[in-house]
Amino acid sequence: MRVLICYGTTEGQTRKIAEFVADIVREKGHEAALFDASDVSALEPSRCQAAILAGSVHMGRYQGALVHHIRDWHERLNGMPSAFISVSLAAAGDDPHGRAEIDETAQKMLRDSGWLPKATLHAAGALRFTQYDFFKRWIMRAIARQHQSDVDVHSDTEYTDWDDVRVFVEDFLAKLPTEGDDEKKAG
Ligand SMILES: Cc1cc2nc3c(=O)[nH]c(=O)nc-3n(C[C@H](O)[C@H](O)[C@H](O)COP(=O)(O)O)c2cc1C
Repeated sequence: MRVLICYGTTEGQTRKIAEFVADIVREKGHEAALFDASDVSALEPSRCQAAILAGSVHMGRYQGALVHHIRDWHERLNGMPSAFISVSLAAAGDDPHGRAEIDETAQKMLRDSGWLPKATLHAAGALRFTQYDFFKRWIMRAIARQHQSDVDVHSDTEYTDWDDVRVFVEDFLAKLPTEGDDEKKAG
């Protein structure tokens, strides 16, 4: 089966997650069509039989290019097994208010786009203080302290729970219809 993996990223963590997802897809014997949403040649979902899309939250929003594709593709995505991975800092914390807020951010984007993924994962992202410019560092100090009590604002920290991502993707792939299912339907 050909699985579309399309991601939006600003500082690179969601690309790393999408590459990890693509590796799992290949390990399980499928073809992975991996695309950055900002790449104009982003593949049409109609050439794939399943899709996993991922984007990260910045100031309560996902990457515009990703949201644009989701709106454009929602009918085709709704016609195949699909899943969404939302990457954020809020997902790294255990504050129920922060988690509810990030879930509402995802649900609102999905409602507005018309896409109904079968499953959504909130994956913890990363803080890359060594790469932020002055403005981002200033914003992120405030956001990070809101979500995490033990933030080192002088170094990079990866919060992504790779086992969580693996379990989510393997579960999604395990539920994909097989050729035998098609034959059963036809017969
Ligand atoms: C300027 C900026 C704004 C952010 N805003 C939010 C936010 O509103 N909520 C949140 O949970 N995380 C927020 N984050 C954390 C990012 O979602 C996190 O760093 C993620 O790993 C970024 O993924 P990316 O590297 O794929 O862009 C923000 C990060 C930056 C740098």
